[in-house]
Amino acid sequence: MPGQILVVGSSNTDMVVQTTKLPAPGETVLGGTFFMNPGGKGANQAVAAARLTGNVTFVAKVGADIFGEQAVAGFRQEGIDTSYIQTDPAHPSGVALINVDAAGENCITVAPGANAHLRPTEVDTALTAVGADTLVLVQLEIPLDTVTHAISEAASRGLRVILNPAPAQPLPNELFPHLFVITPNETEAELLTGIRVDDLESAGQAAQKLHNMGVSNVIITLGSKGAYLSTGTESQLIPTAPVKAVDTTAAGDCFNGALAVALAEKRPLADAIAFACKAASISVTRMGAQASMPRRTEVAD
Ligand code: ATP
Ligand code: RIB
Repeated sequence: MPGQILVVGSSNTDMVVQTTKLPAPGETVLGGTFFMNPGGKGANQAVAAARLTGNVTFVAKVGADIFGEQAVAGFRQEGIDTSYIQTDPAHPSGVALINVDAAGENCITVAPGANAHLRPTEVDTALTAVGADTLVLVQLEIPLDTVTHAISEAASRGLRVILNPAPAQPLPNELFPHLFVITPNETEAELLTGIRVDDLESAGQAAQKLHNMGVSNVIITLGSKGAYLSTGTESQLIPTAPVKAVDTTAAGDCFNGALAVALAEKRPLADAIAFACKAASISVTRMGAQASMPRRTEVAD
């Protein structure tokens, strides 16, 4: 029986425009059709995990507005337990403004709104209610004191924690020993370790530094090259399928949601990463964040 997955994180509504090239500072570019779809790193990871048949509970805060209502309705449709999602009467739901260029690369500006008001103690009820084999999945689009509290509380209850340290920001040293897995991309790995990651050797050095800081397992995602796993005793590159990327928005979120599902199913790390790479490679062939998350049958195929 797979364990539960508790995602603690952000929910946004993404406002997306495709352009031939991303605008430079001061530049205006004419884009294609505007489209809106649900996003936010926490919500994307929760939806990715749910579509891959994970048993998901999501802790988040939305505003008392139509965006928040639509987001929560969407989570329910995906079969996610929304009992611990709070509505903030004083702040609007999070919004992200996203440009995607012809190569599928993006730039994103987030107005966090209610996400910035998810308080540390507001995570506790969910943490006390979940089962002992629950995996806790956290990112950095909510306040850092809430992140550190959720992680240390989860670890003190013996729960395994996956931290996706995105968007990149410095973290307190005491957080690292609580992590079963950390999943930075190359930029985030460099920010956390000071080591520029541009090949397997530097990925290995950055991973070793994260082990020295106390993390049990390090997974550095490498975009179209796949992901690098280091357990402290072994390391390997797990490649991803070559695909034509249309929009890489939330590739990392899909990877993390899928990883959590496979680990909750007690699959070995390398196996779980191969599953996550497969899911994420499908997500980049489609536009949007939650809109791009694959279902289990697609990944199995
Ligand atoms: P993003 O910020 O775009 O959501 P990220 O920077 O957090 O992503 P990446 O390392 O770019 O994370 O991608 C995460 C995973 O998604 C990779 O490990 C890989 O499995 C998959 N992936 C990303 N880009 C591609 C691509 N162009 N082709 C195939 N797989 C990809
Ligand atoms: O990781 C992608 C997400 O980052 C988008 O959905 C956007 O909302 C921002 O949070």
